[in-house]
Amino acid sequence: MEQGPCHFARGVHTMKVPMSLFADNRRRLINRLREKPEVAEVAGSFVLLQGGVDVPFNDTDVNWPFRQESFFQWCFGVEEPDCYGALDLDSGAAILFFPRLPDEYATWMGRLFSLEELRQRYSVDEAYYVDEILDVFSRKEAYRFLTLHGVNSDSGLTSKEATFTGIDKFKVNNEILYPEICECRVIKSESEVEVMRYVVKISSEAHKAVMKMVRPGVAEFQAEAEFMRYVYSEGGCRHVSYTCICGSGCNGAILHYGHAGAPNNKIIRDGDMCLFDMGGNYCGYAADITCSFPANGKFTEDQKIVYNAVLEARDAVIAAAKPGVLWTEMHLLASRTMLGALLRAGLLQGDVKDMIAAGLHAVFQPHGLGHLLGLDVHDVGGYLPGHPERSTEPGLRSLRTARPLLPGMVLTIEPGCYFIDWLLEKAKKDARQSQFIVWKEITRFFGFGGVRIEDDVLITENGNENLTKVPRTVEEIEAWMAQGCNKLPLPEAVQANHH
Ligand code: GLY
Ligand code: MN
Ligand code: MN
Repeated sequence: MEQGPCHFARGVHTMKVPMSLFADNRRRLINRLREKPEVAEVAGSFVLLQGGVDVPFNDTDVNWPFRQESFFQWCFGVEEPDCYGALDLDSGAAILFFPRLPDEYATWMGRLFSLEELRQRYSVDEAYYVDEILDVFSRKEAYRFLTLHGVNSDSGLTSKEATFTGIDKFKVNNEILYPEICECRVIKSESEVEVMRYVVKISSEAHKAVMKMVRPGVAEFQAEAEFMRYVYSEGGCRHVSYTCICGSGCNGAILHYGHAGAPNNKIIRDGDMCLFDMGGNYCGYAADITCSFPANGKFTEDQKIVYNAVLEARDAVIAAAKPGVLWTEMHLLASRTMLGALLRAGLLQGDVKDMIAAGLHAVFQPHGLGHLLGLDVHDVGGYLPGHPERSTEPGLRSLRTARPLLPGMVLTIEPGCYFIDWLLEKAKKDARQSQFIVWKEITRFFGFGGVRIEDDVLITENGNENLTKVPRTVEEIEAWMAQGCNKLPLPEAVQANHH
């Protein structure tokens, strides 16, 4: 196994992530904190973070597959659970604390590593056991800990604040760190971009592999299985970044389809659109890509109308996204573009500006244009103090950030168009919205499902770079799928039901 002392990798064919990526993250955080007078003026300050803990399935002795806590991952890249990490803001030293495991653990887990081996593997300055934490900081004459306390603006959940027995002997400040470390995570370093480039590339290839194996008769979960196989086997991604969404036909209109109650278990039918939203995870970093395509490899005229409306919105945003541009403006640009295309196709009537004023865009796309992406699929930093607050307007209020774009941000651009029964029924009853919908045309789209096109994009000095590499135009998709299973005869079971 290519698990060298100073990098993360999963085999000779997967990316080597140097531990210097995390040292660089730590340096950026320390420099940022040192610029704050309330930090610079107090000697003996340490950032203190607590890593993720092993979580059992219910009350059993079997654990969920471990995923490191994201702030801890960003700082240290440590793969083991139950650790602590600290940064000495005076010297800049990085210190890790590992659980002291009893000798018998070697039977279950293999040889236990010495502290020196762990210190070298993660390229930090000092390593100790967790049970030494109070002694270590007493010896260092620590004065104050900066701990993490903040509410995630996507989940509403509060971060886990580090604590240990005896921490009350020191001062603790839990206000300074959160906004500063979040802001550091918003701007990706060159090394972080390299990892994201890799995970997005592998995930793009996996989507392409899925597009080649899908055809009528295949189950949605078989597409999910192929994606997970590909990103893990070819790319070393043990985890996906969120539950795979493999909606076909009407399921494409369910934004987070694939959940426990609807586990990607429909058989894909001839004439269905597929909307597959899946992203691998490598060394903690997430991809988040959606491909929409016809199950049988050939778009119908109606499928082209919807697909091209979304593609036009995506192209407009890709052409405009650059530093200084407001994300809310990009959302409205996508909305105007998509509604304009549906208007040209005769599905809508009236003036696009008036449609937006009536909130019609949020009927067809009841989610935001996209979000920051990084270690978390909906990454932190969307609504920090000092940045624009969440809008209360239809459409805009769904955005996970309202910030102006900055070089080094990675965001998803994911316009979509869905035919969601209950939203259309609601719009029908709302005279302000109903007047814009050509009901005799829209009726045939009930049950269509939806289209989403989701790319992962890096904001550069002058514009942006799309990290996602998948077939996107109608022609590209049809040409790609023509090389896949669709050229084979339909499976027997499907032929029997095929009209
Ligand atoms: N995969 C979840 C999202 O697109 O935000
Ligand atoms: Mn997605
Ligand atoms: Mn997304």
